[in-house]
Amino acid sequence: MKWMLISEARGDAAVGQPCEIRGWIRTRRDSKGGFSFLEVNDGSCFGSLQVVAPGELENYDSEIKKLSAGCSVVVRGTIKPSPAEGQASELHASELRVLGWADPETYPLQKKRHSFEKLREWAHLRPRTNTFGAIARVRDQVCASIHDFFREESFRYVQTPIITASDCEGAGEMFRVTTLDLDRLAGSGGPVRYELDFFDRPAYLTVSGQLEAETYATAIGRVYTFGPTFRAENSNTSRHLAEFWMVEPEAAFFDLHDNMQLAERFLKRIFDDCLKTSAEDMEFFDQRIEKGKIEQLRGVIDKPFVHMTYSEAVEVLTGSGETFEFPVAWGSDLQAEHERFLTEQHVGGPVILTDYPSSIKPFYMRLSDDERTVAAMDVLVPGVGEIIGGSQREERLEVLQKRMAAQNLSEENYWWYVDLRRFGTVPHAGFGLGLERIIQYITGMTNIRDVIPFPRTPGSAEF
Ligand code: 4AD
Ligand code: MG
Repeated sequence: MKWMLISEARGDAAVGQPCEIRGWIRTRRDSKGGFSFLEVNDGSCFGSLQVVAPGELENYDSEIKKLSAGCSVVVRGTIKPSPAEGQASELHASELRVLGWADPETYPLQKKRHSFEKLREWAHLRPRTNTFGAIARVRDQVCASIHDFFREESFRYVQTPIITASDCEGAGEMFRVTTLDLDRLAGSGGPVRYELDFFDRPAYLTVSGQLEAETYATAIGRVYTFGPTFRAENSNTSRHLAEFWMVEPEAAFFDLHDNMQLAERFLKRIFDDCLKTSAEDMEFFDQRIEKGKIEQLRGVIDKPFVHMTYSEAVEVLTGSGETFEFPVAWGSDLQAEHERFLTEQHVGGPVILTDYPSSIKPFYMRLSDDERTVAAMDVLVPGVGEIIGGSQREERLEVLQKRMAAQNLSEENYWWYVDLRRFGTVPHAGFGLGLERIIQYITGMTNIRDVIPFPRTPGSAEF
């Protein structure tokens, strides 16, 4: 008998077919007529399949009538049109085998509704809920779209290292990687002897694959890197993780304009794929997590993104009459509250901010002719704020060296990066999209801890 995923078994084509399904019980309801309705879910799609288990089954009294949420089963039978509203078909069981019991006294998901905070304590079980199952499938879809999009745009996937000696963002928010015995070190009182450490130097978990991606962009043209990224920033917010995933395209001969166009095509493609291929999951987010999400995404796909310079944005903010917790002045970094005002109140959609002051951006961004700003671009969206940060890169050797000196970065540590400007330098640009931030935007989930399977935040790495 054919094993069907529930995504297939629920389709019209399955009606009339004999089949076997394998999954977990969501609910059991016993009918007065001496049979039971079981909702079985296998995670292949949002919906469950209703199984009708007749009282004649030999284990009806001994097992079927004891089934509860979380039990795993294999059911054989025939798919029939369903008389019940809201579902096209149901499985009439001729055989049901229990694989694993889940004691209703102790199974945490017995109760239907738990807060997202509570579910974070059960990161091993929460994917079995509607919300987290849907997030997992949408996240998978977004990853597939990322690879599809870049391949179609002739970008090559390169794998940049996770362990690195350089601080790409220059913010000093890096986790150390060491094999030195910290306890012995603490007792020794002396200075750390890095020549005794594994890599013979201080090493860290990467905050970005960009610098390494630039080496491949200036060799094979258009590349992207996509992997885990680590930041030891001590910010306990709904938008920050200590471990998150970032996709970073980098393209030779691209300027800031090309970079912005690429980012806009990229985001629209991801949204469009989600609406088309994750329709059932998106319907759920639209109904239960953020009303109107589908319409909102459709609107974003249909309209060109609004562009604004940092200076224009500062004017908008200072002239808004709004009181912000952090005051705004030219030269200060924009806070989440400012980003949200711009996207939510002022623009009412995504906005690309460009030309930030050089003093608040990393050394690698290209200095503009005004010598006060750099060719930076951030993409901001309602509800989340910044989802993309990028720039045209400084390709002029002397200018780069000056900026590194100004930010106290030793050229010695970045000699290979500087070399790219010594040998056949070209204009180039790229950006980084935070995977969890875009999943937050697509699903409407307000806390970033709920859109990554196992969140790492300050003081928390249980699983
Ligand atoms: O703006 P960021 O710091 O840019 C870079 O790292 C560049 N090197 C990217 C590049 O040009 N190749 O980070 C890029 C994006 C942010 O816009 C945000 O979406 C996400 O990464 N991000 C985080 N996501 C979750 N938790 C954090 N702590 C994040 N920090 C950045
Ligand atoms: Mg940024």
